[in-house]
Amino acid sequence: MDWILREQGFDKERIAANGNKFMIGNGYMGYRGTMEEFTREELTATTLAGLYDRVDGKWREPVNAPNGLFTRLEWEGTPLGVLTGGAGAGAGVELLEHEQQLDIRRAVHRRRTVFRVPSGAAEERRVTLTAERFCSAERLNLLAAKLTVQSSADGELVIRTGIDGEVWDINGPHLEGLAGREAEGSLLLAGMTRELKVPVAVAETASFNVGEQVVSTTSGSPIREIRIPCRAGETYTIYKYAAVFTGLDGTGDAGEAALRLSREAAGLGYESLLKEHAAKWEEKWSRADVVIEGDEEAQLALRYSLYQLLIIAPEHSEKLSIPARGLSGQVYKGAVFWDTEMFMLPFFLYTQPETARNLMMYRIHTLDGARRKAAEYGYEGAFYAWESQETGDDACTLFNVNDVFTGRPMRTYFRDKQVHISADVAYGIWQYYSFTGDDSILLNGGAETVWECAKFFYSYAYFNPGKQRYEILDVTGPDEYHERVNNNAFTNALVKRALYIALEAMDFLRANDPEQYETLVKRSAIQPEQVRDLHDRLYVPQPDAKTKLIEQFDRYYTLEDVPLPELKSRVLNKNEYWGGGNGLATTTQILKQADVVLMLHLFQNHYDRETKKANWEYYEPRTEHGSSLSSCIYALVAADIGSSEWAYPYFLRTATIDLTGDSKQYVGDLYIGGTHPAANGGAWMAAVLGFAGISFDGSTVSIKPSMPHKWQAVELPLILRGQSFKVRVMPTGVVVEAGADNNEAVAFKLGTHEVQVAPGEKAQVDL
Ligand code: BGC
Repeated sequence: MDWILREQGFDKERIAANGNKFMIGNGYMGYRGTMEEFTREELTATTLAGLYDRVDGKWREPVNAPNGLFTRLEWEGTPLGVLTGGAGAGAGVELLEHEQQLDIRRAVHRRRTVFRVPSGAAEERRVTLTAERFCSAERLNLLAAKLTVQSSADGELVIRTGIDGEVWDINGPHLEGLAGREAEGSLLLAGMTRELKVPVAVAETASFNVGEQVVSTTSGSPIREIRIPCRAGETYTIYKYAAVFTGLDGTGDAGEAALRLSREAAGLGYESLLKEHAAKWEEKWSRADVVIEGDEEAQLALRYSLYQLLIIAPEHSEKLSIPARGLSGQVYKGAVFWDTEMFMLPFFLYTQPETARNLMMYRIHTLDGARRKAAEYGYEGAFYAWESQETGDDACTLFNVNDVFTGRPMRTYFRDKQVHISADVAYGIWQYYSFTGDDSILLNGGAETVWECAKFFYSYAYFNPGKQRYEILDVTGPDEYHERVNNNAFTNALVKRALYIALEAMDFLRANDPEQYETLVKRSAIQPEQVRDLHDRLYVPQPDAKTKLIEQFDRYYTLEDVPLPELKSRVLNKNEYWGGGNGLATTTQILKQADVVLMLHLFQNHYDRETKKANWEYYEPRTEHGSSLSSCIYALVAADIGSSEWAYPYFLRTATIDLTGDSKQYVGDLYIGGTHPAANGGAWMAAVLGFAGISFDGSTVSIKPSMPHKWQAVELPLILRGQSFKVRVMPTGVVVEAGADNNEAVAFKLGTHEVQVAPGEKAQVDL
């Protein structure tokens, strides 16, 4: 099967979408899928993970480094570029062929463009440019590129290549004192962030065997000009090695480090760097790939989703998590949302537990930010940021959306009221612990974190004396169109789970680190017995005895029950916000995204099939799927109830979101385009947890397939409790092979058969 995405021809309208779709990255940085000749206007970005900056009181956002791969061509004085007639291409130039490619197996981006160049001669003259690039998976600070140029006639070719300081910024520019220079044949562009003065440097070393070079610095950007007296039919090749360092890397002077790496890379050469990069990717895929037999479209879409997760996974650092738009730019402030715990974490838990650990350690490292937020609102414990950056302080503003009609900022309550975030964090930490058995995470801040989350809920909850129960009032659940509601079923259920987790974690601590336990309890106004009481008497909305429906929140049923198409017919502006005080959906039962249904997925063993089916059927027609986090959940629950054909379209919608670029681009006047890692993780969940029906409860792996009719088999690797397995799931049976290096047997429940799969053994069961 093909691992290469291809797009033929050039369409100006797709510049932003293709920048996302053809992205490369390595967890340290993301490099958008733009053309070599592009600059700021075409949204060029080398987005750095975990480095944020604020300019002139505007919102903080990630920093884009200068573009070390910038390159433009000129043929006989005429600029060549895909934007014919626009910036970068001169009059008379025509685009004869253009193809953009992404090899997702090796994470390599390619383009090939053939230009017709003006000539007085009778015969047509062509210049062909090919370029290939990758963001090294072995040396995270390195980008490498290879460019070739060929012409059909003799003539002078000028290649301008270097480091472009003019890159895409929403609220920038973020680097001050940006100064470019030549340093013994290499180029360097360095500056520092405006807010925290963190140095950022990009160095570039190029190697080529023809032409003379002259370096100039145009508005701060060091660019070399290489003049090549071109001979017809000859191929001219340039290799570029761009290294990006920041003051956060701990490598001393960022500029020196960048120069050192770019020169070292040049010394090693492109092919050998590509080889080590490809070997890393081979290894990544061997641990992650899911093979789907019988459905090419689903196969490519799922692999692409996994590619997206793999290029942004912070394998190298426990100070990073994954922002809601990955490393595709600065959208959503580069902030980390609940998306990570609820939608991406499962993929990492089952395939790369070390990365799952990093993601959860990020929450532990940002606990102080969550404490500050709780204190700011007058609560105890830890209230995690709805939009979290490097310190855990909330980047979410009180006015997150502008009203398209009045232009005025709207008061939104994502920051104040989406309290489920603290339960999501506790849930994630506990998932990591039960999947891996790695109790070091509990001892090193995990238990404290979940305890702090429980304290927050204790201080937030309301005791209803009439009903002798605790309630959680004035919250926003996953469905953001209904703000400030009471007893949101999802929130209450997850908080109850978080309280249970906190009590378990504290028991663990008392037994394994009594000193830490004592300290936590002693300095707390809230005691474990109180948390237990809250847990035991917390109200969680239950299914109605007759209809089996669970009301999304108190009095949800009293809202207008308008069909979705009718609500859509009321829209006056395609970007208007449906939630908030005055939104179209606010007074209706229309929801933005899976809410009760998400709860049914998370607690799938607590509810019977009828309840899941009744709620799926009730809520689905009322769901806008206005968030990319929605469809995968409907796919999961449909598969869970055995309706894989219902599930399939939701799976495909989730898995193709970044291939088609078909997603909301604006909320109000806020641009929200970019990649969708939560949907990417959701695609994996729908395929593996949904269709292949795999689930792990910390001791037993259950496999109960519910596959779309055309799927003949799903094959994938798993790592559970440090033991690796290869699993093949078919509608008619399951085969599990345990790694020969495993050191213990793991229990599998295949359909109704229970088996222990010992190291090196194979279990096969017909269903
Ligand atoms: C969704 C949130 C999500 C955020 C970031 C919003 O549109 O409603 O649930 O966390 O996007 O992906």
